[in-house]
Amino acid sequence: DRGRLLFAQESIFVKGVVAMSGLPPADRIEVCFAGRSNVGKSTLINALTGTKALARASNTPGRTQEINYFAQGPDLYLVDLPGYGYANAPLPVVEKWQKLLKQYLSGRPTLRRAFVLIDARHGVKKVDEEIMALLDSAAVTFQCVLTKTDKVKAAERDKVLGQVRGALSKHPAAYPELILTSSEKGDGIATLRAIIAGLV
Ligand code: GTP
Ligand code: MG
Repeated sequence: DRGRLLFAQESIFVKGVVAMSGLPPADRIEVCFAGRSNVGKSTLINALTGTKALARASNTPGRTQEINYFAQGPDLYLVDLPGYGYANAPLPVVEKWQKLLKQYLSGRPTLRRAFVLIDARHGVKKVDEEIMALLDSAAVTFQCVLTKTDKVKAAERDKVLGQVRGALSKHPAAYPELILTSSEKGDGIATLRAIIAGLV
């Protein structure tokens, strides 16, 4: 299938970007991974690309501090974003990367879809709502990915799913289909690969 073929190609780190002027030429489609610090963005990119440490992940919120570009074959970029919300880094530094994050999410012409990651234990928080509102105004289609589903029991997960669905219904730019993932167990990874392949 197309998802498997796309991700069978090599994944290459292109660059870390710290200002809009540093973005690579907008010459191909890209998808980005946004979400609160520590939600599992970098880990999800590693799971998708079948690598262990292509994107740097850690248990410290605020690990990713630049916009990291990965080429997935010749036609697609995967974009790992810094987290929003609490980060274990000095405030002026955090403010700088939050500003860049917002500029990127509302001003990148080749951004085809933003995946907004939501922790399966926590659901949609106020900071997520703010990012979703930003994506609405920028008319960037976004799709929610529940992460760390291995950490919750089915009943708790279903409760969170209801909360997420309710939150999404208020956002015109939200694509209604949710993707449930566990980077730890590999759940939902093939599904997400196929969705991304469908966008290229
Ligand atoms: P920032 O770069 O700080 O914004 O964080 P991030 O969203 O990139 O999170 P990261 O991928 O660094 O993961 C944070 C922590 O969550 C790490 O310790 C991961 O191992 C863990 N983690 C990520 N995904 C999963 C998952 O599906 N299941 C479990 N159990 N742990 C996960
Ligand atoms: Mg990260």
